[in-house]
Amino acid sequence: MEIWVLGALGRTGRGITAELTAKGLPVVLVGRHRERLEATGAKFVVADGVEAMAAEIRRQRPAVVVNTIGEYAATAATIARACLPGGHYVDLAADLVAVPRLLDLHEEALAGGSTFVTGAGFGVLATEAVVAKLCEGRETPSRVRVDALASVAVEAGAVGVALAASIVDVLTTGGRRYEDGRLTPARLGAEPQTHTLPDGETAKSAGVPSGELVAAQRASGAPSVTVMSGLAPTSPAVRALLPLLGRVVSIPLVRRFAVRQLARVTTKAAPRPRAHSWGHAVVTWPDGTTREGWLRAGEGMDFTTAVVAEVAARLARGEGKPGAHTPASALGADVAEAAGGTFVL
Ligand SMILES: NC(=O)c1ccc[n+]([C@@H]2O[C@H](COP(=O)([O-])OP(=O)(O)OC[C@H]3O[C@@H](n4cnc5c(N)ncnc54)[C@H](OP(=O)(O)O)[C@@H]3O)[C@@H](O)[C@H]2O)c1
Repeated sequence: MEIWVLGALGRTGRGITAELTAKGLPVVLVGRHRERLEATGAKFVVADGVEAMAAEIRRQRPAVVVNTIGEYAATAATIARACLPGGHYVDLAADLVAVPRLLDLHEEALAGGSTFVTGAGFGVLATEAVVAKLCEGRETPSRVRVDALASVAVEAGAVGVALAASIVDVLTTGGRRYEDGRLTPARLGAEPQTHTLPDGETAKSAGVPSGELVAAQRASGAPSVTVMSGLAPTSPAVRALLPLLGRVVSIPLVRRFAVRQLARVTTKAAPRPRAHSWGHAVVTWPDGTTREGWLRAGEGMDFTTAVVAEVAARLARGEGKPGAHTPASALGADVAEAAGGTFVL
């Protein structure tokens, strides 16, 4: 019944490990620094790199693997496949390359009786859960717009390679939206909007290519879907530069350089800008009916940590639908409430 946390000494890995331990679940820390792992006093496995981690998973067969090592587009499939047959897998991917790539393993996961969950975190779950609630028991809508409005406290320290790579990958993908059922290019930072939130505060969002798009499309079946994020730049000057920046960092050498430089950037600690993080969805049906809903959560990173721990705990109990899914698709929209969210519909 062991739950392995890969990258357990990293930012999210530490929080997820603490939550799982608080739930009384048997956690094993997996990382590449023996002394630092030993110092935690917890059970651990030393594995330096993706292939070594996959080999240990195949040898020791944990019930659930939580992958926090990042670079998901390149490495998640290797780790997830190592869980087959019967083992379950969770990651925190949120970009439009990694999320579909993991979902493409659906048939393999089904055949192996495993559940693979990608997109376990604030953005994907907080938006797909609202879409699922709004669409429950209704016909397929024609249009969906979702906004992921995270309120995140900044930890002091370096950005780190995993997070830096995720940010650079958003730039290289460029904007995307579903139009007539097809994934089509859109402008990065499109349709900037200021929202008045249910608690009276305000937040801005603009278009980004992110995993929320695929999750909202699958949860609704709608042919037209757009996704906006509070993390997207909304200033006109920065938005104007984004397409060019995206093309430049698409060059592999420049990408590696950009990731290295960004990873070294240090941030000062700062409190979350607003009391709550919000997932938001507006769903429109062919007859013109529109429904709007929200999911209120606390600090964005805390919610992400709670989501991953809740998903892992449920998978360990064998509650996941076999196949490759996003969190609400594997376990139902109520997993967002179990992780501390509240629907405002
Ligand atoms: N979806 C969401 O809402 C959400 C939220 C937060 C984070 N994330 C994503 O989650 C990932 C982790 O973020 P983080 O902030 O926790 O990053 P982090 O602090 O850099 O932690 C990553 C951990 O993985 C380990 N690692 C990285 N590459 C490895 C490799 N090839 N082999 C073995 N270990 C490796 C690192 O080990 P070392 O200590 O040895 O370097 C570190 O312990 C990122 O991709 C980030 O974008 C998603």
